[in-house]
Amino acid sequence: MTALTAENTIASYDQQLARLAQIVDLDSYPIHDLDHPITRELVARCREQLDDIGCSVIADFVRPDAQERMRQEAHRLMPCIFRSEQKHNPYMTKEDSELPQQHPNRFLQHRTAGFINTDIIPEDSDMLAMYDNDIMTRFIGECLGIWPIYTWADPLARCPYGVLEDGDYFPWHFDGNEFTVSVSVEQPAEGGTFEYAPNIRSVEDENIEGVNRVLSGDKEGVYELEWKPGYLQLFKGRYALHRVQEVRGPGAWITALPTYMTDPDTVNRPEHSKQFYGRALPIHFVRETNRPDTLTD
Ligand SMILES: [Fe+2]
Repeated sequence: MTALTAENTIASYDQQLARLAQIVDLDSYPIHDLDHPITRELVARCREQLDDIGCSVIADFVRPDAQERMRQEAHRLMPCIFRSEQKHNPYMTKEDSELPQQHPNRFLQHRTAGFINTDIIPEDSDMLAMYDNDIMTRFIGECLGIWPIYTWADPLARCPYGVLEDGDYFPWHFDGNEFTVSVSVEQPAEGGTFEYAPNIRSVEDENIEGVNRVLSGDKEGVYELEWKPGYLQLFKGRYALHRVQEVRGPGAWITALPTYMTDPDTVNRPEHSKQFYGRALPIHFVRETNRPDTLTD
């Protein structure tokens, strides 16, 4: 057994930094040094945009060679993708037939999408190396202004590739979680544009009228994200109605979804895991009985 010494800790940090340098463009974005003027400016910009419109993008975050390795990895694993479909409303809740027909709760759209689950991604993956990296976690927390955050315990959902292929669509919705982090791996020839209507609702006001306007196709107040391979997005989707437009033709929309949590031990519910990731594991059932609350999800 090796004793834990300062030297070991430093070596471990150095190893993480060396691995991260193979993946992230640390010359343009020295995220390992939070006091670096470039990093300070970057963090300040992210926080400001997140406060303002709930969305911030760091262009060319992943180095081109690492982008290509991620793309090839996703394509190699494509035969093992779990595809699912569902009709859902923007709140991802059950339709309430007591509500008027015009209420967004009754606006159901068809989602078809796939996940390459985290447990089948090889250990030497660049994407996983970027995710399971303390320097990266610290930087993401800094940008979000939330600390501590942790990488997640869910073996399937912790850092999957989300995939939309020809004809797939991820309809308008609000996120249940506080924030998401995404990294673009591939963009299709046509479609796959991420659209969002920031601050369309708030804790005080669901703004049914405004939500209906966007659902009916009104583009006022709707932003289109510039989204290219290697870009990293931080997004607060609880108050922003958002969707990924239908993908058309060759190529796929492939996005890595490194998931950070403030409560890392609560995993997906077994039903949710089966629906989105194709199965539930013992950890999903065990932790279901130990949940801290009884909220819907
Ligand atoms: Fe979302």
